[in-house]
Amino acid sequence: MAFLASRNLTAIEEMDKPDCDPAKLDRTYAQFPLVNRSVAGWHRTWAHYIRPVLSTARTNTLLDVGSGGGDVPRALARWAARDGFRLEITAIDPDERANAFASSRPRTPGLRYRRAFSSELVAEGAQFDVVTSNHVLHHLSPDELSGLLSDSEKLGTRLALHSDLSRTRVGFALFSVATLPLPGSYIREDGLTSIRRSYLADELRAVVPPGWRVERQVPFRNLLVRRA
Ligand SMILES: C[S@@+](CC[C@H](N)C(=O)[O-])C[C@H]1O[C@@H](n2cnc3c(N)ncnc32)[C@H](O)[C@@H]1O
Repeated sequence: MAFLASRNLTAIEEMDKPDCDPAKLDRTYAQFPLVNRSVAGWHRTWAHYIRPVLSTARTNTLLDVGSGGGDVPRALARWAARDGFRLEITAIDPDERANAFASSRPRTPGLRYRRAFSSELVAEGAQFDVVTSNHVLHHLSPDELSGLLSDSEKLGTRLALHSDLSRTRVGFALFSVATLPLPGSYIREDGLTSIRRSYLADELRAVVPPGWRVERQVPFRNLLVRRA
């Protein structure tokens, strides 16, 4: 798999194209929870990183950037309620199709969706205890990545966490096989494109500013962490 030797920035995810099939796109959002539950490890990230910085004495706030169909912020809202935290979550995505899909889901207490870029929240002077994203970093150009990290530093008063795939041959082969039973969506082709666009941990370390740490997560992931 020599094609995984370096990041492929010319491969574009179908879901990022404005004219992609809307029914397939909605099925993709609907299938994200399956993929995220299997590979993204957010419960571990909740327990290890987020929960320890929250307070039971006040209402906590979290911003999820590029939230797509919204299943990661919905899971965070559930875990917070179960663990006895008051957590208000704002889930933003600049894509109106993502915002429309997430907003059409049954309401989750404490969670609101909004169509926005992180820069708009910075301009409003918004702040949150925690800033998160899942599977967003590999979508971004170098300038967009540095903008997101700079915005995260301003928006997140305690912690910022950006979780993403890592570009490995084993991950590519396993994802290719595991997603065969998910037809009718962009999950398989966009997932494989995403892996081709993703960073290795050392590549990410080379481009993030001081204050950010890149941790490897099992299986085949990078977690970009900044503690304020
Ligand atoms: C692969 S989806 C991941 C969605 C969701 N976070 C998940 O894990 O299921 C990537 C999302 O990032 C969003 N996105 C793309 N460029 C962005 C940017 N510059 N800032 C914020 N979100 C962006 C897209 O609209 C898309 O919904």
